[in-house]
Amino acid sequence: MAGNIVLIGFMGVGKGRTARALAAETSRFAIDTDDLIESFVKTKIRTLFAEQGEPAFRRIEQQTADWLEHHVSGSIVSTGGGFFMVNNLRCLGRIVYLHSSLKGIIATLRRHPDAERKIKKRPLLRDMAKAKELYRTRLPLYREAADIEIDVEGRKTSEVVAALKTLLIQDGLL
Ligand code: S3P
Repeated sequence: MAGNIVLIGFMGVGKGRTARALAAETSRFAIDTDDLIESFVKTKIRTLFAEQGEPAFRRIEQQTADWLEHHVSGSIVSTGGGFFMVNNLRCLGRIVYLHSSLKGIIATLRRHPDAERKIKKRPLLRDMAKAKELYRTRLPLYREAADIEIDVEGRKTSEVVAALKTLLIQDGLL
């Protein structure tokens, strides 16, 4: 089982859209852990955070990782920004860290036509000082967790996917 390509990285860096584009080009399925969680608990992540708190969300993330390990293989998995902390990340497949500066991430989110919703749905992005601190503490952890790092700042999804495909082919993963 497993043998997936797992995209990790900070909120809003483009893990979902990169996973969908990579999946389309490789005839694989893209799966998103936040989508799985929302359908599992039948509520939005921000409601889950508000009603049950972050620890409950992290427990469900671990449950999701356990399920993925045993039931999903050969897929492109995009993850929530804190998912990389699950205890079986390495068992899920090859880990790809999508990197951008926080400034780059915020600028891209703000340019989005649906910017307000994109920011509102992310409880940990509402307080910019806290988001900065979270980025600072997570950056080395993302890098430590990853097999492959790819710089996405200022690049189109198609460019990122082309570069990523080359790296994955070199690695024998595609
Ligand atoms: C989180 C990131 C979010 C979502 C939740 C917590 C995090 O996903 O899982 O709000 O801890 O960084 P995105 O990375 O898709 O925004």
